[in-house]
Amino acid sequence: MALRTIIKYPNPRLRKIAEEIKIFNEDVKILSEDMADTMYKSNGIGLAATQIDVHKQMIVVDVSPKKDCLYTLINPKIIEKKGRVEVEEGCLSVPDIVATVSRAEYIKIETLNLRGVKKHIEATEILAVCIQHEIDHLKGVVFVDYLSRLKRDRIAKRLAKLDRVVSYDQS
Ligand code: CO
Repeated sequence: MALRTIIKYPNPRLRKIAEEIKIFNEDVKILSEDMADTMYKSNGIGLAATQIDVHKQMIVVDVSPKKDCLYTLINPKIIEKKGRVEVEEGCLSVPDIVATVSRAEYIKIETLNLRGVKKHIEATEILAVCIQHEIDHLKGVVFVDYLSRLKRDRIAKRLAKLDRVVSYDQS
């Protein structure tokens, strides 16, 4: 397993649309292991391949307190949703920023597992929110897109400043 670099907002590569995975080989397995490793090491509860600059439809999610309930979803699609819930979200690509987003409270998804076998998963609450957030990444959508333009500009400016501080420290 290897740690991958997480790209940060407002990097335009976060806007790329991920392609479906059609071949289930060793590369797909390695990608899933690297993504899980990168998510756990970053203390995240979800990661989309887009965030490590791989534009394939794969997400990993683990919202369990003990970090022992990993979902690896390939080509996930929401086929049913119900209810509304407002939860404060964060994102490994938007460090130190949290904001409240409105999402479906219940979702049913159709997805493939690592062997390319079709599965249906029902999710509620935080798991549902997290899966919706990660599926958004595969479509080039970042959670801050749901905020007002003013708030988004403020966040982009703050992150650009952080970026400069980091590169200055390393020089
Ligand atoms: Co995210």
